[in-house]
Amino acid sequence: MSPFHLTRTLPEDATDAALRADVLSGLTGTPKTLPPKWFYDAHGSDLFERITELPEYYPTRAEREILVARSGEIAAAARARTLVELGSGSSEKTRYLLDALDGLHTYVPVDVSESALTQAGHALLAERPGLQVHALIADFTVSLALPDTPGPRLIAFLGGTIGNLVPAERAVFLASVRSLLSPGDALLLGTDLVKEEKTLVEAYDDASGVTAAFNKNVLSVVNRELHADFDPDAFDHVALWDTENEWIEMRLRSRREQTVKIPGVDLAVDFTEGEELRTEVSAKFRKEGVRAELAAAGLELTRWWTDEAGRFALSLSVAR
Ligand code: SAH
Ligand code: TRP
Repeated sequence: MSPFHLTRTLPEDATDAALRADVLSGLTGTPKTLPPKWFYDAHGSDLFERITELPEYYPTRAEREILVARSGEIAAAARARTLVELGSGSSEKTRYLLDALDGLHTYVPVDVSESALTQAGHALLAERPGLQVHALIADFTVSLALPDTPGPRLIAFLGGTIGNLVPAERAVFLASVRSLLSPGDALLLGTDLVKEEKTLVEAYDDASGVTAAFNKNVLSVVNRELHADFDPDAFDHVALWDTENEWIEMRLRSRREQTVKIPGVDLAVDFTEGEELRTEVSAKFRKEGVRAELAAAGLELTRWWTDEAGRFALSLSVAR
């Protein structure tokens, strides 16, 4: 087998039924919503990489700090021969794990973004010519078929991306992760933690406007794929802290009354002035909540590490 292998389980072209179904149900409902996975076309993936470098966006730096300090312990506990990473993006922080996992046989990055996977795969292979990389273009919210590679298996889900799922979706997702593990296999989960509102809001509403551009990129994806006529400048980026649900909610607020045509789904959507479209939630966690959600899926939390400032946590849990 060549060291880089790419398997596609999503249709070639994003104008597929899933986008049309999501746009149709999301923009005809009340309130209007669009699911977050459509942010990540090639431009969206680039914008996300810029977010990770913003002074306000601490999660990437905090999680990297933990990985730098703890990858040795993680590797010793997991002893993985196959590392699967969900929503792997640039795989930039994964390097610390790959370096620490002696005896690793195969790395399986899984992402909806083909551009992110191929860029990351080529960068990794240039540095680690011996590593088998089996990239999967797939939606991690739909049941995954993983390649048949040797165990033990470690599934990593970093970046706090689990917070982009609402609680009911997380329960389904964690159960499906558990079904990919054999007893003794492990999940390494990155969760951003509840903290002061100002810090949270600024991380999702940076002064330079990169996050606003990222949020509006979903409109450009719908324009391109479904021939819609969204004017991104006719919407404002909004990030709010919801104290009850303990999540940041990202919205796009219509600056004026307008009608947007979406020929790809044969739809005209009316927005009133000030009407908001919900594009993303980013839930923040506490240790006991994470433990309980894992336990409900048959995963036992065995290790919990935070950065020095206590902003972000990595947990290791074991399938029983
Ligand atoms: N793990 C990286 C990237 C986080 S951004 C980090 O920590 O920096 C979230 C990543 O998940 C993006 O690369 C995006 O393309 C991917 N993603 C989002 N929804 C997805 C889904 N439903 N299935 C697979 N990948 C998804
Ligand atoms: N997983 C990231 C997070 O929740 C994704 C993200 C960061 C994001 N900034 C965003 C999603 C802005 C939408 C809009 O932190």
